[in-house]
Amino acid sequence: MIPREIIDEIVYRNEIDQVIGSYVTLKRAGSNYNGLCPFHNEKTPSFTVFPATKSFYCFGCGAGGDVISFIMREENLDYVGAVEHLAARAGISIPVEDAPREEGMIPRKRIYEINLAAARFFRECLMDERYGKEALEYLTEKRRLSTATIRRFGLGFAPNDWNRLTYYLKNLGFSEEEIIRGFLGKRSEKSGKVFDLFRNRVIFPVIDTTGNIVAFGGRVMDDSKPKYLNTSDTPAFKKSRHLFALNFARRQAEERMLLCEGYMDVIALHAAGFENAVATLGTAITSEQARIFAKYTKQVVICYDSDTAGQTAANKAMRLLGDVGVDVRVLTLEGAKDPDEYIKKYGSDAFRRVLDGSMTGFDFRLKNILAEYNLALPDEKIKASASVCDMISDSPSEVERDICVRKAAERMKVSVDAMKADVERIRKNRIRQQKRKEGQDAQLSLKNIGDRVNPDAAKNIRANRAEETLLGLMLIYEEFRREATSESAEIRAEHFVTDFGRRVFSVICELERSELGFSKAMLGQYFNADELGRIEKIELERRNLARNDRAVFLGAIEAIRKESEVVTEEDPFADLRRKQAQNKQAKENKNT
Ligand code: UTP
Ligand code: MN
Repeated sequence: MIPREIIDEIVYRNEIDQVIGSYVTLKRAGSNYNGLCPFHNEKTPSFTVFPATKSFYCFGCGAGGDVISFIMREENLDYVGAVEHLAARAGISIPVEDAPREEGMIPRKRIYEINLAAARFFRECLMDERYGKEALEYLTEKRRLSTATIRRFGLGFAPNDWNRLTYYLKNLGFSEEEIIRGFLGKRSEKSGKVFDLFRNRVIFPVIDTTGNIVAFGGRVMDDSKPKYLNTSDTPAFKKSRHLFALNFARRQAEERMLLCEGYMDVIALHAAGFENAVATLGTAITSEQARIFAKYTKQVVICYDSDTAGQTAANKAMRLLGDVGVDVRVLTLEGAKDPDEYIKKYGSDAFRRVLDGSMTGFDFRLKNILAEYNLALPDEKIKASASVCDMISDSPSEVERDICVRKAAERMKVSVDAMKADVERIRKNRIRQQKRKEGQDAQLSLKNIGDRVNPDAAKNIRANRAEETLLGLMLIYEEFRREATSESAEIRAEHFVTDFGRRVFSVICELERSELGFSKAMLGQYFNADELGRIEKIELERRNLARNDRAVFLGAIEAIRKESEVVTEEDPFADLRRKQAQNKQAKENKNT
């Protein structure tokens, strides 16, 4: 564990509004700050930073916690990683021997190290006549990449061998466990030996914005399957949060970025001078990635393959990018299947011209809808119009809706006024439905249904309420904390009915009884981001209540004890039942 004094200093020196303010545009609201939540898509701010309690909470998605949990979520780091990140930000050094990890956990730094070693190995193999001759020929001749480009992207080659990389890494002192967890090797079920995952493939390293190699993509050189093998999620990597070549592209990103489907498109574009191109890593774009774009640029041009799959994917990407407020355009390539092929065939000037002529999101969707229908038939024209109105009604801007209606009406030869009336009617209906749904959601959440953090809460509403009251008081007031955690206290962990409540209580006890006492900054060691958000909520709700005195405290303890007796005495199989209910809930959660 990192010493408490150092953690306290790190929290003290990283003022929460300043740290969060560097990720989120914050507006002052009284003594707090509001902004658009970076953890879910929203158009009106429900994300709040409370400098007084050094915490944040999103009333929309329930993310919350202190500055450390914010960094855990935002930078996708574990607790120690987040503390290190904040230490670096404040120029505080953590003594090395003081930062050991939990046993069995491989620190993300170690994964970066192993990836760096592997990347070096792949590069050397590519340049080594004995192994990389064919691969180098493939890259320079078939894919027409210059040596400069190969070097810039750190391309490599994984030789056609079962354990050359594993052997190399072990020699450097990496353990088999590290090789496996880093997705570089796998243990054979037959022999029990570790073998290389990337074999006989050209290698594309994925580098994050701080320069760490986080993953690899490996392409076969013929038509065998799978065409690409990609690192799956490791302690240092989540596909859905990274973009290939963002390390380069972010420097040219201010005005516009290009979103491609694949590694080769990006590399060809960079080589042709379009250094603002990135790609997702073998998956459709996620909302997390959409937010990355929003962070770096004003406009995204989607440069997907010209086939149907590519165009369908473009539609989805457009929606996600539109949601985060970037200006979206879509490129339609004619005469080539993707940007890589287009540039090879027609050159970079031609590509720049199609780029400048790329369609706005609206034009692209209008074109797609109109292509589906035969406008000469009245029936189909009505359907097409309904579909177009539905699409336009999505836009929150009245001016934009007006412009789109005029354009569409002209294209379809229908009356502007009629179309406008339809659009506004759809819009009103939609808003009404949304309000109703929000109301329903709020009710469900009041009943704690579908609660993943605390699945026991729904079945034990009274117990849960009492537990949250007590925990809230313990989180806020030192005197209640001291009393409830003392050896002679009337309340103990086994009285808690919900698993989550019991865990929170136990952790508070453990911290309170430790030498330096309780600190919220330590909670990230025990709880994941969702759980930290819930703890923040419990505290916040308590704070907002006027009566938080000793009577409330004692009442909560009594209520918890009473509920625990109900569960344990009246029903000898309560525990079993609870487990079953939990399993059922877990299954349901999985299915939704
Ligand atoms: P493409 O098949 O369009 O590949 O898949 P590409 O990038 O154009 O590559 P070349 O030109 O055929 O060499 C687009 C992206 O989808 C992912 C990869 O990220 C690829 O770059 N993909 C594709 C996979 O992850 N696995 C596969 O088997 C195929
Ligand atoms: Mn392609």
